[in-house]
Amino acid sequence: MSDTFEIFLSGTPGLEQVLRDEALEHGFAGAQAVPGGVQFEGGWVDVWRANLCLRGPTRVLARIGGFPVFHLAQLDKRARKFDWAAVLPKGAPLRVEVTCKRSKIYHDRAAKQRIETALKESFGATLGGEDALQLRARIEDNFCTFSLDTSGESLHKRGHKSAVGKAPMRETLAAMFLRQCGYTGTEPVLDPMCGSGTFVIEAAEIALGLAPGRSRSFAFEQFPGFDPAVWAALKASAQGRATDLRFFGSDRDAGAVTMATANAKRAGVDAIASFADHAVSDLNRPGGPPGLVIVNPPYGGRIGNKKLLYAIHGTLGQVLKERFSGWRAAIVTNEADLAHATGLPFLKPGPPIPHGGLKVKLYQTAPLP
Ligand SMILES: C[S@@+](CC[C@H](N)C(=O)[O-])C[C@H]1O[C@@H](n2cnc3c(N)ncnc32)[C@H](O)[C@@H]1O
Repeated sequence: MSDTFEIFLSGTPGLEQVLRDEALEHGFAGAQAVPGGVQFEGGWVDVWRANLCLRGPTRVLARIGGFPVFHLAQLDKRARKFDWAAVLPKGAPLRVEVTCKRSKIYHDRAAKQRIETALKESFGATLGGEDALQLRARIEDNFCTFSLDTSGESLHKRGHKSAVGKAPMRETLAAMFLRQCGYTGTEPVLDPMCGSGTFVIEAAEIALGLAPGRSRSFAFEQFPGFDPAVWAALKASAQGRATDLRFFGSDRDAGAVTMATANAKRAGVDAIASFADHAVSDLNRPGGPPGLVIVNPPYGGRIGNKKLLYAIHGTLGQVLKERFSGWRAAIVTNEADLAHATGLPFLKPGPPIPHGGLKVKLYQTAPLP
């Protein structure tokens, strides 16, 4: 395998450009948005750094090689010859996923069976199990490309949250919405329906310059060629900075507030993030500079009933208009009517984004008058 190869950041469909901007900002030169993610050329240290530092990807895949293939016997033969030892640890359990498109080999299951048998017989691999490393084979236009999932558990699992409430937002998605709002960690953030605290904790981490992957482990730590000293140095160089900013969450559900407080503590942002137990109607503007209010209220068709939802959105809009002059507001919701029930002066909404079986959009305002 060569020193550089294609790295693919798999992301949330609809937010590819936002993810590309994040990758470019972190120095991943040549990052290009493609359907479902972002790709660029790099080496293993780039893979490790992408897993550690980027907030948007759900996983980082390394395209480790491939070959042309026109029939199953050829797939079997070429998969046996492939230099698995260069990229896979001996003895670690593997899970193989195969997709076929526009190719003479069109039967995913038969292709998977050939690759698995080749891995077992030529490399002594074991298959399956919960902690299995994932190998993806994509057979497209008669070319088989192998990718390794270098992340392991989905990257929205930062390793700090043991508790989540109803309809939590994934950290990766929350971070991309913050970025879509132009959030760079230089203003306070407030979420008046904070649930498990995702927006508030992500924003506080951004302000503190904390790497999102600082507390978890990754699949790549098992790969041959992994260098613990280089990895430790990478982690040490992503140490963070101090901030005077403050971050605020509130929710009318006391259990959510307890959960968000515990999650912030585990993330190490509790000195700058605080959570309070009250309804939106009792929300007051915090002291200090204006910033961003970002919130995903209960969804239509998911929790709560319609009439009540309109009333809650009306109250939210009224409170923000009356008490949050100079702050920007952003709402993530699946229904335009609910967003408009706030009466807030929204700019053009973002694209539809899949979230928990719904399509949600980001509605944001300029600083409120
Ligand atoms: C979709 S969830 C937010 C999830 C959150 N973003 C997270 O990542 O966990 C909506 C939240 O709004 C809260 N909520 C509903 N009505 C409210 C109100 N009138 N005032 C304050 N919070 C409210 C619910 O308790 C729930 O936690």
